[in-house]
Amino acid sequence: MYTEKVIAEFTNPENVGEIADADGVGEVGSPACGDIMKIYLKIEGDKITDARFQTFGCAAAIASSSMTTRMIRGMPLSEAWEFSNADVVDALGGLPPAKVHCSVLARDAVRAAINDYRTRRGLEPRETGSSRCCDGAGCGSKPEND
Ligand code: FES
Repeated sequence: MYTEKVIAEFTNPENVGEIADADGVGEVGSPACGDIMKIYLKIEGDKITDARFQTFGCAAAIASSSMTTRMIRGMPLSEAWEFSNADVVDALGGLPPAKVHCSVLARDAVRAAINDYRTRRGLEPRETGSSRCCDGAGCGSKPEND
């Protein structure tokens, strides 16, 4: 059911925990399953210098959180905003169709954290749009928040 990469990321996740003095924090929940993901960002200039997570969810959600925090470290905010759940799914070697929504949580949590950072700096939050399941990852599920 899960790829070896998902199992490895789930059994040995990186970047678990809180950043006490985070510059941006994003928390999202899945309407599909009730699970919750929280992502903490440290930002210097326009770059993400640290990213950590706390996730109450399934193996796919934890693997997605871990992979996402590893991938967005060092990214400029503009690039992290465009970071898609399809990027996470690819990096994990795929997810079962019923679990693609778990990777969407990671994308949404990153965007929520960036918007929190923007709000703290007196900037308008960016429009997050609908929380689409897939972004081209091909699970065939319906968008969750439309
Ligand atoms: Fe809830 Fe995966 S089933 S996040």
